Amino acid sequence: MALNLRNDNEDLLCSYGPAEMIKMDKENLWHHLTQHKVFETADPLIVVEGEGLRIKDIKGREYIDAVSGGVWCVNVGYGRESIAEEVYNQLRVMPYYAGSAGNIPAIKFAKKLTSLLPRLQKVYYSNSGSEANEKAFKMVRQSFRLKYPDKEKIKILYRNRDYHGTTIGALSATGQEERKEEYGPFVPGFVEFPHACCYRCHFGKTYPACDIDCARVVEDIILKEGPDTVGAIIVEPITAGGGIIPPVKEYYPILQEICKKYEVLMIMDEVVCGFGRTGKMFGHEHYDVDPDIVTMAKGTASSYMPLSVTMAKAELFDVFKSNPEDKLAYFRDISTFGGCAGAFAAGLENIRIIEEEKLFENSANMGRYMLEGLKEFTSFPIVGDVRGIGLFAGIELVEDKETKVPVSEEFIGKIIADISAQGVLVGRTNRSFKNQNNIINLAPALIATKDDIDQILQAIKNSLEKFSK
Ligand SMILES: Cc1ncc(COP(=O)(O)O)c(C=O)c1O
Repeated sequence: MALNLRNDNEDLLCSYGPAEMIKMDKENLWHHLTQHKVFETADPLIVVEGEGLRIKDIKGREYIDAVSGGVWCVNVGYGRESIAEEVYNQLRVMPYYAGSAGNIPAIKFAKKLTSLLPRLQKVYYSNSGSEANEKAFKMVRQSFRLKYPDKEKIKILYRNRDYHGTTIGALSATGQEERKEEYGPFVPGFVEFPHACCYRCHFGKTYPACDIDCARVVEDIILKEGPDTVGAIIVEPITAGGGIIPPVKEYYPILQEICKKYEVLMIMDEVVCGFGRTGKMFGHEHYDVDPDIVTMAKGTASSYMPLSVTMAKAELFDVFKSNPEDKLAYFRDISTFGGCAGAFAAGLENIRIIEEEKLFENSANMGRYMLEGLKEFTSFPIVGDVRGIGLFAGIELVEDKETKVPVSEEFIGKIIADISAQGVLVGRTNRSFKNQNNIINLAPALIATKDDIDQILQAIKNSLEKFSK
């Protein structure tokens, strides 16, 4: 693997050696999504530096990162000096003031975002995807209470297999039972509807004869709950952590029609799909759909800085101005870190890079190339399905193609470890569904070349070959 990293580890570790750092990590760091018992016999991954798609760990091992920072967010790749410079310059001049005030990069970034999504003219900042979704829920609930004081149009419908965040509200809107287990009770007013995964159709049907029942069923649910009680529906344009599920093209137009009929707002969670991941700037642009609210995070500043956004239509925003005599009738919400000016500077530079280097086009082209390569893997007895769009794909592993019984977590864990031992980091569905965490995820940075994709595919192929025996 040709790596040309800038520093050597010694500089970055300062006076500590790798062994001391690993010891300190084990003593004090509580890693995300990790059963720490494993560190009694193994060392944690400690990343030290990165360039392009490649990263180096504290032991000097090099990897090609096929998941853009583990959770599909370093869209423009590592080592972007220009982002670091823009952040540095902004921090020197004006690092922070609360979001009740504007600041120069916040205004410029909002202008840029509204030029990309012209139907959504209002931009609200916070600092994580979960929080961006919480803002959306609060906007929906309050705006309907202001609009219809006699109604309680406050329920939010969410899709089975979608993830919307870690806070209790966002987790209440999440359709992944293992993510939720032991964290309840959850917030009232969130109602689940079936997923849109054709490979495991909830209705046992086959596209296109299915009549897209997975979308049409939403009308039944709204009627059952009572249209006057349902305020919004939240969806990921393409389900990410739930197994890379692009719905069929008819899906969102049908959903939209149902939402319009019952005045239900559509929240599009672009936290993963936004900023080029799927081959267009935003995932929902693959469909004929017009969401009322769009949330974004991860790729917004390619995770060089924490930054999330909730964009809303002007009609929704205007509801909050309609009754200034009522002291509570405005959006009484704040996010302290939604005023960090360096994050907007990073966001602006991130979009400049994506546009100048046409990274969403590269995502579309290289994504097609990657998917073609993955389709060949369906000849392996353990590969049940591959699906994806742009540089965003999943490989669903099964014990038996007929019965579609998912492989066990232990089995997929061994495959992932084997791929990693070849120097390639891939993702997987992680404690999301009971007995169904069987999908390998790929989301390399949008700068990936054919050569990078070939290396990723070769490592996966080697492991599939080894474990198909
Ligand atoms: C689709 C989606 N929405 C929201 C979130 C939550 O984002 P965060 O972890 O920044 O709170 C995630 C995180 O993985 C996500 O995948």
